Amino acid sequence: MEVSSLTKMLIMLVLVLASFTTLSLGQDNWCGKQGTRVGFYKATCPKVEHIVRKTVIGYAKNDPTVAPGLLNMFFHDCFVNGCDASILLDGPSTELTAPPNSHLRHIYKVIGIAKLMLERSCRGVVSCADILALAARDSVVLTGGRSWKVPLGRRDGLVSRASDTANLPSFTDSITVQIKKFADKGLNTQDLVTLVGGHTIGTTGCASVNYRLYNFNNTNQPDPDINQAFLPQLRALCPNGGDGLRRVALDTGSNDSFDNSYYENLKNERGVLESDAMLWKDQRTHKFVKVFLGTGEKPRLRFNKEFGRAMVKMGNIEVKTGSHGEIRKLCGRTNSELH
Ligand SMILES: *[C@@H]1O[C@H](CO)[C@@H](O)[C@H](O)[C@H]1NC(C)=O
Ligand SMILES: *[C@@H]1O[C@H](CO)[C@@H](O)[C@H](O)[C@H]1NC(C)=O
Repeated sequence: MEVSSLTKMLIMLVLVLASFTTLSLGQDNWCGKQGTRVGFYKATCPKVEHIVRKTVIGYAKNDPTVAPGLLNMFFHDCFVNGCDASILLDGPSTELTAPPNSHLRHIYKVIGIAKLMLERSCRGVVSCADILALAARDSVVLTGGRSWKVPLGRRDGLVSRASDTANLPSFTDSITVQIKKFADKGLNTQDLVTLVGGHTIGTTGCASVNYRLYNFNNTNQPDPDINQAFLPQLRALCPNGGDGLRRVALDTGSNDSFDNSYYENLKNERGVLESDAMLWKDQRTHKFVKVFLGTGEKPRLRFNKEFGRAMVKMGNIEVKTGSHGEIRKLCGRTNSELH
């Protein structure tokens, strides 16, 4: 009898262990490298995706800057101390106050409202970092891009410093510097060309373009790499000595649609930012632009599909999981600031 009950116990134990193994294998399929996974809130907040999407749609339909803003905000969050919603923290010298983020301040409210709704449904469960990751995906889909599954489980950071935004890619960065900044975050040159393709719905301030139009490299001439027919068009959008804050689309002719035309524009010397125009000029990046255009040596890659893949990779930069960070109650404040 004793032997038989021991056998039963052993069988039970094996079964329990087997089910654990199956569970963790099943999860591995969806696991980001850093421990994020699709379906993280399945039990604790099943409506999270629905609530975020509804909020994004509500704001984006009345304001064309919302979709590109949310995408840009996620990118700028991930590149500075990882995807931890540090960009959302408010204060006198936080990331949001730094010049590269000055055009994103009004985007904060979209995440803030989604958070309020989520706190009503599932209090203290969903991180602001995850809301931003979902909102960025929803923005792409809303403008015509292809959807992807967003691994979740990020926790919110406790630190946000304007000075840390210095490592963000800049419109004057050479290709060498751009490649290095992405490599520092574990992203390769193909990821770089793919993610910068988010400029298909982006805008920039004339202040980042004017030097190319009127006095490039102290020559009193425009940048010779701007298409001659495109130059007057850009100059009309950004008059000499005009308002540097005026926004100009990065994908001329198709700024409201998430598509391949940004790369077509690069090929036609209609890149607006100098850093974008360089993607076509430098062999290291040129070959990936051609692959997206279907004219490369390697088989064509579909931008819309690759973009989701690269976003999942970017969304895992230095994420905080487990006992790191916290789940903020308000996206603009750390929890200790609320006491
Ligand atoms: C800028 O001008 C300097 C010489 O004045 C030249 O060496 C350099 O290559 C120029 N840079 C570009 C991007 O044209
Ligand atoms: C984006 O394109 C639309 C037309 O499709 C145009 O009305 C709008 O002004 C453009 N936005 C920018 C910032 O250029």
